[in-house]
Amino acid sequence: MSLVEARRLAKTYVAGEVQIRAIRGVDFTIEPGSFVSFVGPSGSGKSTLLNMIGCLDPPTGGTLSVVGTDVSTLSRKEGAHFRGEHLGFVFQDFNLIPVLTVYENIEYPLLMVQNWPQAERKKRISQILAAVGMEEQARKYPRQISGGQKQRVAVARALITNPKLVLADEPTANLDRETANKIIALMKHMRDEFGTTFIFSTHDPKVVKNAETIFTLEDGELKQSDTGGIYA
Ligand SMILES: Nc1ncnc2c1ncn2[C@@H]1O[C@H](COP(=O)(O)OP(=O)(O)O)[C@@H](O)[C@H]1O
Ligand SMILES: [Mg+2]
Repeated sequence: MSLVEARRLAKTYVAGEVQIRAIRGVDFTIEPGSFVSFVGPSGSGKSTLLNMIGCLDPPTGGTLSVVGTDVSTLSRKEGAHFRGEHLGFVFQDFNLIPVLTVYENIEYPLLMVQNWPQAERKKRISQILAAVGMEEQARKYPRQISGGQKQRVAVARALITNPKLVLADEPTANLDRETANKIIALMKHMRDEFGTTFIFSTHDPKVVKNAETIFTLEDGELKQSDTGGIYA
C-alpha cells in the first residue's frame, strides 16, 4: 500500500470574486520509507499541497489517501486526531516554544498528544536527542542556540511520537546553504534510522538535489518527476 496517493487532486481558493487554482489536478504516489521533495518557485503550490497531505486544509477536488485513510472527508476534529497519530511537522521558522528548553520542546508533543508514562518519555527523548546530536544543548532555550540547531530540535520534536510521515514545508528557507544541506542530511539519516517517510518542499534547486524522489511543481501542476518509477 502506498503511503500517500493523490488522484486528480485539486485545490481552488475562493477569494471574493476571484478563484485561484492553486493545485490543478495532480497525480502521484509516495511509498513508505521514501525521501521526497516537492520543488517549485514561490506560488507554485507547494504549501497548498503539503497542507492537504498534512490534513491542515481539505482538497476541493480529486482524492487523497494518506496512511491508508481518505483524508479529504475527515472533519476538523478527525483531522487533528489523525495528525497527532500519524504525522509530524517541521516548519520554515522552526516554531519552537521560546519559554521551554530544548528538552521540553521535544517532550511537548508527548504530553499533548499521547499520554506516556514519565520513565518512557525520558528514554524516548534521550534517544531522539542523541539521534539529532543535541544532547549537550538539552537544557538551553531556543534563543541560546543557532538556527541550524533549532531546526535539529524541530526535527526531533516531529519524530518524538514516531509518526509514519514527516512533512516539512521549506524547512531550510531560513538557513544558509551549508546548514540547509546538513538539515536535509539529518532528515535522510532519520529516515534510515527510524524508517519514517519524509516529504519536504523547497524552492532551492541546490537543496532539492539531496532528495531521492523529486516532484517539480509549476503553477499548480506536476511538470516532471525524478522518481525511479514511483510517479504514476
Ligand atoms: N489561503 C489562500 N487563499 C487564497 N489564495 C491562496 C491561499 N494560499 C495560497 N494561495 C495562492 O495559491 C497559490 C499557491 O500558493 P502556495 O501553495 O502558497 O505556493 P508556494 O508554497 O509554492 O509558494 C498562489 O497563487 C497563492 O497566492
Ligand atoms: Mg509555501
